[in-house]
Amino acid sequence: MARRRQLYEGKAKILFEGPEPGTLVQYFKDDAYVFDTQKKGIITGKGVLNNRISEHLMNRLMEIGVPTHLIRRLNMREQLIREVEIIPLEVVVRNVAAGSLSTRLGIAEGTRLPRSIIEYYYKNPGLQNPLVSEEHITAFGWATTQDIDDIVALTLRINDFLSGLFLGVGITLVDFKVEFGRLYENEDLRVVLADEISPDNCRLWDSKTGEKMDKDRFRRDLGKVEEGYQEVARRLGILPEAGIRDLRGPELMQ
Ligand code: TMP
Repeated sequence: MARRRQLYEGKAKILFEGPEPGTLVQYFKDDAYVFDTQKKGIITGKGVLNNRISEHLMNRLMEIGVPTHLIRRLNMREQLIREVEIIPLEVVVRNVAAGSLSTRLGIAEGTRLPRSIIEYYYKNPGLQNPLVSEEHITAFGWATTQDIDDIVALTLRINDFLSGLFLGVGITLVDFKVEFGRLYENEDLRVVLADEISPDNCRLWDSKTGEKMDKDRFRRDLGKVEEGYQEVARRLGILPEAGIRDLRGPELMQ
């Protein structure tokens, strides 16, 4: 197999040059990392599940007209995506108080918020991705007011759609993080959903019991981490055909 050029290695994913100009291959790793505590580990099968879950959610979103970077899933750990210019923001949407919102504002975890709240974090690991306002974003040129209008409109649609989709399988979408990129199509510039949507960057609680089925199981040492991710995939009806025994998937080939 021909060696592929690796362009970037992040905490949970690797980006390779794609087969055609303007495309990339996104490889999902099992590595897990928590910024605040610098906790590191491996969640066996996470990459395979996140690849599947993110593909599924992005395909459903594209069906309702939300543009994304996804072209198609290639295999158990890889997807073909469009190369976009990443907007350096982590966009967080919250429906229920949890995590840093609860800590920062003293609102008990599990409190339903009066309305969905969007927050922006500047993607800069050296600064630990600080919370920023629209004023910072436009003043420092990370995104234009038009970009922000597009991001808010897309984010609210994504939140409404995914909240309903998860509720249908007995899961409360507590909060999630998304990233956007700019895609140049002929003369047009579009803001599209990028990165991934998976239990790594969502809080997903069982609607009846409140049990956590996301990366908080790892962050907070709750145990049964793999099982949480598998349960999300199972409820979405997309556990790999081979079942949970075959979650390791192919090893990384270059
Ligand atoms: P937070 O409560 O820690 O601010 O997280 C809010 C949501 O954003 C939660 O679903 C986890 C997700 N998130 C990421 O995906 N990446 C990150 O670096 C952080 C801090 C949060």
